[in-house]
Amino acid sequence: MLVPKLSAFVEKPGEYAPSKAPVFYNPVMELNRDIAVLALQAHQQTVGREISICEPLAGCGIRGIRFALEVEGVEKVVINDINKKAYKLAKYNVELNGLSKRITVKNMDANLLLAQHGAPYKRFDVIDVDPFGSPVPFLDSAMRATRDGGLLALTATDMAPLCGVHPKACMRKYGGKPLRTEYCHEIALRLVLGCVATTAAKHEIGVTPLFSHSTDHYVRVYVLLKHGAKEADKSLKNLGYILHCFNCFHRETFKENALLGINGKCPSCSSKMDYAGPLWLGKIADEKFCALMKKEVEKRHFRLKKRIEKNLERIMAECHAPPTYYVLDKICDKMGLPTPPVRSVLEALRERDFEVSLTHFNLNGFKTNAPAKIVTKTLQEIMVSERGRNKF
Ligand SMILES: C[S@@+](CC[C@H](N)C(=O)[O-])C[C@H]1O[C@@H](n2cnc3c(N)ncnc32)[C@H](O)[C@@H]1O
Ligand SMILES: [Zn+2]
Repeated sequence: MLVPKLSAFVEKPGEYAPSKAPVFYNPVMELNRDIAVLALQAHQQTVGREISICEPLAGCGIRGIRFALEVEGVEKVVINDINKKAYKLAKYNVELNGLSKRITVKNMDANLLLAQHGAPYKRFDVIDVDPFGSPVPFLDSAMRATRDGGLLALTATDMAPLCGVHPKACMRKYGGKPLRTEYCHEIALRLVLGCVATTAAKHEIGVTPLFSHSTDHYVRVYVLLKHGAKEADKSLKNLGYILHCFNCFHRETFKENALLGINGKCPSCSSKMDYAGPLWLGKIADEKFCALMKKEVEKRHFRLKKRIEKNLERIMAECHAPPTYYVLDKICDKMGLPTPPVRSVLEALRERDFEVSLTHFNLNGFKTNAPAKIVTKTLQEIMVSERGRNKF
């Protein structure tokens, strides 16, 4: 691949090099692209035939080229970028890799390209929308250009709106209210999925998240689309709200009739609660799909293999866990306690018969069905116990 030499375009320290270069290329997104290769391979194996892929915002073409080279059973890839220089570079890279027969390179607006593929027999098996910031401007047309039973992958890098730093921007783009809690990255991911589900429903399409992850400065979702009004109704049932108490860490979710019977006070400590949503409350990944991805990564020689395996393990483990997680050091800070190792907290909660899992969202985080007051009580007990005194 020929890619921009990023150091040549940075004028001041701290500048974001990828968007300074005349053609976009971000080496930090290697993990994102590796995982995309695994997910697309898992999808190809599930459908059991050759697939077509579209990458409507391709930059230098690295992602689409990797799909053609690394995913088995790919019939054709269409890559596109509105930037003339990106188009030329992508075309050069496609030729360099001897892929001109399988990859078509286009130079047009992504929505225009997707609209041209919005009819039966013209649709793609997989569309990967990897934009600057939000994928929402491309969501409707990507939805229409993905075939029934196809896979839609989306990256969102606009974490300031999604994590609640700019709530109005989030409401505008995603139609849901964010909240600056310690688990705001999960809220961000669920807001994206909620928006995907409501956009799909307008087209009478239902969605099932097969894989999702939150990494560094972005969230990424892979959803299976199924055509039909009933499918759409079914996926809308996964929408709801998260209520959060900033005083005692209590949180709860509401799927239907969210506003009935809620007086806005925390049932645990009576403080005023705040909320996030509407957002996706259903599962954010599918175990079978994750297992296929895991098998794939074992076979491959990715530079980031270890990190990907660890992420996959955590995502599989938290598949069935409830929404929201606790970040141990943040809770302990607020409670004025030293932070015990996460594993010892999980053990103590398990001993009390609660379900627990680690989470990929935060290395110091964990998910549990235990109420917040049990979590805080358990932390206090760990501290005063003999074991606690010896350890900390
Ligand atoms: C984040 S970069 C893509 C990176 C690429 N997917 C990768 O994995 O390396 C976003 C790209 O979208 C292109 N772009 C922005 N608006 C567009 C539009 N309306 N239609 C097509 N391309 C667009 C930009 O020129 C830029 O190259
Ligand atoms: Zn409370």
